[in-house]
Amino acid sequence: MKLVIQGGNALRGSVKISGAKNAALVLIAASAIARGEVILDNVPRIADVEHQLEIVQALGGRVEWQEQGRLLLSWPDQLDVALPYHLAKKLRASNLFLGALAARVGQARMPLPGGCDIGFRPMDLHLKGLNAMGFDVELEHGFINVKAREPRGGRIYLDFPSVGATENIMMAAVGVPGTTIVENAAKEPEIVDLASFLVGAGATISGAGTDLIKIEGHPAASRGVGNSGETTRFSVIPDRIEAGTYMIFAAAAGVEVTIENVISRHLQPVIAKLNDVGLEVAVGEDSLVVKRSGPLRATDIKTLPYPGFPTDLQSPMMALLCLAQGTGVISENVFDNRFRVADELKRMGAQIRVKGHLAVIEGPVRLLGAQVKATDLRAGAALIVAALAGEGETEICQAELIERGYEKVAEKLCALGASIKYVD
Ligand code: EPZ
Repeated sequence: MKLVIQGGNALRGSVKISGAKNAALVLIAASAIARGEVILDNVPRIADVEHQLEIVQALGGRVEWQEQGRLLLSWPDQLDVALPYHLAKKLRASNLFLGALAARVGQARMPLPGGCDIGFRPMDLHLKGLNAMGFDVELEHGFINVKAREPRGGRIYLDFPSVGATENIMMAAVGVPGTTIVENAAKEPEIVDLASFLVGAGATISGAGTDLIKIEGHPAASRGVGNSGETTRFSVIPDRIEAGTYMIFAAAAGVEVTIENVISRHLQPVIAKLNDVGLEVAVGEDSLVVKRSGPLRATDIKTLPYPGFPTDLQSPMMALLCLAQGTGVISENVFDNRFRVADELKRMGAQIRVKGHLAVIEGPVRLLGAQVKATDLRAGAALIVAALAGEGETEICQAELIERGYEKVAEKLCALGASIKYVD
């Protein structure tokens, strides 16, 4: 699948942000912990969500899409604990069933997960956490086997505030008796969303959003939380990464764009950097107005865990810095192989030097339409940034990678005045 973009159109108007991919994926797994039905609202219809739902069905769960963005999930008492290889390999977030199944049935079996090739992505922190809570953890032949031995709360210090490890430990801890403390926990908004959902389903969690999270497990909790007759209703937070991406689209090719359905405080590090680049950002209750009124200025970016600048917006920002006056330096501190888009941007005329976890971008350059390839989801978004501001036609190959995380991107950009379409 290819995306074909004719550059040079000015973007104007408003765009509505969808529910957060990285919250929806963990909430779908966490639904296994609630004894009763779960109704999730504001769930984006993107490929990664569809893959995660295939796993729910393979494990015996029921999935039903209701009206726009509303998802009904329910699980039988007896469910399968082994994730099929062909499904788990499709996305990294399949690893979030580890904590959910450990909480619900005290065991899980899964292949090491797949996902975007953005660097070395071990699971040592996840497994260390489960082990500290009395689960036997085995890694053999590329599979992870987790089995409750003497499940009980534990104290876990994370060497790195990993999002996935924090989520898996929080879920598993709901299903073991006693108190679990997670130190140096990840503080991303998606973690807070997961904790709010679990508390709504009957769990006891405090400190989510800080680096110290406390989970009071329930003695008999290893059969899920809440009552089988109860329905847990929850609405997924807006996608701060999708919102940040549209802010960068507007910075690259916009005049004035209103971004609706956002939680502005989740975007503070992004707003600050776009102000540095020379963009006006007016912050409203649940919307942002992004205005571009002059040339862009180069700035430096350091990616860090939340509330630092998000690594998921690093590639789109790299494309934007190609259009800015001066030299910008990006240091990528979360993943060790997330500059692959640089070579594709260079095909369009970008001046970028990469050395280890540093990239130096010289600008402004004239970006010229070309045939390029999306190497991962966010690299794909970066190529759209370059194509919108570029001269002539750009063809982005492997565009299905973009569909993994951006709902209706061509439709939304068309509504803002872009010339963009999918072709087979
Ligand atoms: C989540 O991935 C997101 N994915 C990623 O978004 C995001 O880039 C990342 O967090 C960081 O913000 C989902 O939520 C589904 P990590 P996750 O565990 O949980 C190292 C996107 O584009 N680490 O916080 O996999 C790891 O190697 C995706 O939407 C260990 O060393 O990220 C990495 O360098 C891409 N051992 C760093 O921590 C572990 O056991 C951050 O990884 C776990 C992680």
